[in-house]
Amino acid sequence: MPIDRLPEYASIKACVFDAYGTLFDVHSAVRNGGQALGDKADAVSDLWRQKQLEYTWLRSLMGVHADFWQVTSDGLDFALSSHGVTDSNLHERLMNLYLQLDAYEEVKSTLQTLKANGLQTAILSNGSPRMLEAAVESAGLDRLLDASLSVEEVGIYKPDPRVYQLTLDRLGVKKQEVCFLSSNGWDAKGAAHFGFRVAWINRFNREVERLPGDLATVIHRLDDLPPLLGIA
Ligand code: LAC
Repeated sequence: MPIDRLPEYASIKACVFDAYGTLFDVHSAVRNGGQALGDKADAVSDLWRQKQLEYTWLRSLMGVHADFWQVTSDGLDFALSSHGVTDSNLHERLMNLYLQLDAYEEVKSTLQTLKANGLQTAILSNGSPRMLEAAVESAGLDRLLDASLSVEEVGIYKPDPRVYQLTLDRLGVKKQEVCFLSSNGWDAKGAAHFGFRVAWINRFNREVERLPGDLATVIHRLDDLPPLLGIA
């Protein structure tokens, strides 16, 4: 064990990543295929993401699960319609681009560093298995991840504790051995409340969510993580 590892991370064996917003840039779909939206592009992309997440929480409360592909499509439908756009080809194009989102620039090198130092790496995401498989392969990350865990195995969305529990069941590790990384402040809090050591990737300089759960660290990029674990 490296001597300069932060004490909060002393027992870490696995680094587990949220997918959308953390590894993959959700706004790259509109950036790469939404030219027809003109000056509405940013607003549509923001509303798409907001509704997609709201629908995960609301469906979980309603007890009416639908997979992330459906919820993502419904969120896009709402966002386009809210801005007066009724182009079904655009809807289909943007959905297909969700299968090949850009990874943030530091993702690959960070995963390589973690793997080279013997840590397990995995995704834990709302994404359906097909969506995750496509995005991981498109970004060339397949050989750098030991597992891609989807909420579809438990049929409810984050931040339900059953989702975080899936990590322990599938990776064979204890709560205190998991470093969880998410750029979504509410997901970071949910994972911290569950008992993971959480590094919140505050990519967008947001306020800390006023929710239960103690974050171990706040960093701004994934490559800020290896030094905290005593590796470079
Ligand atoms: C995910 C969502 C939270 O990947 O972005 O689980």
